[in-house]
Amino acid sequence: MTSTGTTAPRHLLEDLEPVVAANLDRHLAIAQEWHPHDYIPWSRGRDFAMLGGEDYSPEQSELSDVAKAAMFTNLLTEDNLPSYHREIATRFGRDGAWGTWVGRWTAEENRHGIALRDYLVVTRGVDPVELERARMDYMTTGYDSGDKTALEAVAYVSFQELATRVSHRNTGRATDDPVADALLARIAKDENLHMIFYRNIVAAALEIAPDQTMRAIADEVIGFEMPGATMAGFRRSSMIIAKAGIYDLRLHHDEVIMPVLRHWNVFGRSGLGPVGEQAREELGTFLAALDEQATAFVDRRAEQRARQAAGSDRPQVIVS
Ligand SMILES: [Fe+2]
Ligand SMILES: [Fe+2]
Repeated sequence: MTSTGTTAPRHLLEDLEPVVAANLDRHLAIAQEWHPHDYIPWSRGRDFAMLGGEDYSPEQSELSDVAKAAMFTNLLTEDNLPSYHREIATRFGRDGAWGTWVGRWTAEENRHGIALRDYLVVTRGVDPVELERARMDYMTTGYDSGDKTALEAVAYVSFQELATRVSHRNTGRATDDPVADALLARIAKDENLHMIFYRNIVAAALEIAPDQTMRAIADEVIGFEMPGATMAGFRRSSMIIAKAGIYDLRLHHDEVIMPVLRHWNVFGRSGLGPVGEQAREELGTFLAALDEQATAFVDRRAEQRARQAAGSDRPQVIVS
C-alpha cells in the first residue's frame, strides 16, 4: 500500500508519541486486573487416556457446533500472537510509550489465548488433538499483514480490535453456557479498550497528517481482512459464524466500521487536500457497496432460516 502526504512515517510516529503516552496512562488507569483461572470450570475437567482417563469425543461437550466453530476460530486467532507482536513491534518500535504499549498489549492478548484454551480443554469443548495440530499449522505459517506502514497498521487495528470484541461477545451468547459467556464478555472488554487506544491514536493522526491518515483509513477499510483469514478452514468457519449472526457483513458494517468512522468524523471533517478527498470518496463508494452486500446477505439468511423452519430446506450455502 502507498503512503501519501507530507509527513514521513517515522516523523509521524514521533509526533504521535505524546498521544501514545497519554493513552497508555489512560489505559493503565482503567484496565482492571483479571485472572483466567477464575473463569474456568475446573470441576468439569478430568484426565485424558494417557493418564488413565478418557480421550475426547464430541458428545462430551454441550456446546453447539456453531459455538465450537466460533470458539475454535477465536482461540486460534488469539494463538497467533507472536506474529501480531512482530507486526506491531517492528512498526511501532520498542522505545518509549510505543514500546511500553507493545509489551502491555501483548501480555493482555496472551491472557485471551490462555483462558480460551483452558476453558475448551477442561470442558472438552473441542478435540484437543485437532486443536493442537491446527495451532501448530497456523502458527508455523504465521500472520503477515504485508507492507503496511505504522499509520496503516494503527488504522487497521482500530477496526480489528472492535471486530474481535463483537465476535467474542456474540460467541459468548451463542455458547448457552454462562461460564463461557462471562469469560468471552471479559475478553471482549479488553478488546474494546484496545480499540479505544488505537482509535485515539488515529484521531490524533488525522489532526497531524489528515490526507495521509484518510488515505490509510480508506485503504484499511477497503482491504479489511480478519487476522484469522489465513488459517485452515477459515472460509468454512467464517460461513458458520456469519450464518449464526456471530459475525457477519451487517455487524461488520454497522457495529465495527461505521462507529469508528463516525468517531473520527470522517465524513464531516474539513481541511482535507486532494489526496484526502479522493480517499474519502473511495471510502464512501466502498461503504455503500458493503451496505448493499450486507443487506443481501441478511435477506438470503432470513430466507434460508424460513425454509429451514418450514422443514423444506435443501442444503444451502450462503456466500458472503
Ligand atoms: Fe484478544
Ligand atoms: Fe485486543
